Amino acid sequence: MKLDEVGKTKEDIVNLYETYFYETFKRFDFIAESGHDAYLVDESGREYLDFMAGIAVNSAGHCNKKVVEAIKAQCDDLIHASNYCYTIPQAMLAELICKSIGFEKIYLQNSGAEANEVMIKLARKYGKDNYGENRYKIVTALNSFHGRTLATLAATGQPDTAIQHNYDPFIPGITYAEYNNLKSFEDACDEDTIAVMVEPIQGEGGVIPADEEFLKGLRKLCDERDMLLLFDEVQTGWGRTGSLMAYMDYGVKPDCISMAKAMGGGMPIGAMCTSAKLALTFGPGAHGSTYAGNPVCCAASYAQISEIIDNNLSKNSKDMGEYFREILKTLPEVKEVRGRGLMIGLEFTKDIATDVKYNAQEAGLLVTAVRPSVIRLVPPLNVTRDECDKAKDILERVIKKLI
Ligand SMILES: Cc1ncc(COP(=O)(O)O)c(C=O)c1O
Repeated sequence: MKLDEVGKTKEDIVNLYETYFYETFKRFDFIAESGHDAYLVDESGREYLDFMAGIAVNSAGHCNKKVVEAIKAQCDDLIHASNYCYTIPQAMLAELICKSIGFEKIYLQNSGAEANEVMIKLARKYGKDNYGENRYKIVTALNSFHGRTLATLAATGQPDTAIQHNYDPFIPGITYAEYNNLKSFEDACDEDTIAVMVEPIQGEGGVIPADEEFLKGLRKLCDERDMLLLFDEVQTGWGRTGSLMAYMDYGVKPDCISMAKAMGGGMPIGAMCTSAKLALTFGPGAHGSTYAGNPVCCAASYAQISEIIDNNLSKNSKDMGEYFREILKTLPEVKEVRGRGLMIGLEFTKDIATDVKYNAQEAGLLVTAVRPSVIRLVPPLNVTRDECDKAKDILERVIKKLI
């Protein structure tokens, strides 16, 4: 929809938001009307270089042609059927995902939080089915982010923040340990612990990569104590960190992996994949969702993942990420540039992230502030060197103005 098509002004639309919405986001002062490649276009036709990419979603660019074609074609055939029916897009997508990232089983969901929710449910059920009533505990990391449903909120290790405030009591059995501290995880796991759950790179927590030794240590710990290793790859998945899944780059394979964001090309879809040893945990009635695996979302996801694989966007993510991180280091007031591939955190010496974000938007660049001193840059994986240069120049101007 465009403003002139619905006969409204920008002010009309903003008023509708103010009247009807629970506003849990502070929005940019423009209407996102269309998008192409690395650009989001507002109601006046102004183009913003989009290094938020819909919060790490539009990895093959806005309105990627293959994704759009797949959505249109699937809408002509079938929009929804229910999970009582076999559908072709679901089957094709399941095979594509499992074969390309090396897992045996998949459960399709509608979002990242739901993908994690089902991963937590599966781990609990696996523990109780196989080891008895008390084996359901899960240890997650402090500073993590796993979603906003009640179980994933419990798994999110951010006590005393607005994210969790007054939503307690949470589901029992989830405790936190310190990220990148193997000893802390060893101590937090007891005989009732069935799983350890981490992000290979903490995204919302400030783009903090796991140390390789830490993830390898967690794998060993889980093997020794007969626990499951769960990776939340909702944000890191599908080329973002320079390999199809971050676990591949680290060389540490989890028993269960969740994904969402980039896999749908902008359509709401998520998934959990597991190794064969978990295959018998879910049978009829054990879990379900009306929309999960919706044919249009699956067709979009098939096209999006094919674009990422066929165009080797993981490689571009790796190469461009290296280049971009190097030039970002030359910016003023930069304390650290971190991340892998095109999942980049830029930490400043001062708490200027929010100011940088809004000033960058005014200057034509979209980024997110994930901590008071950290902005996150997650451009589409097919971003060019010129676009990275342009983003760096805008940031340079903005930072100089702010200091
Ligand atoms: C690592 C991680 N897990 C889970 C989620 C939740 O995903 P969604 O917003 O699709 O529910 C996010 C969202 O930012 C995320 O970054």
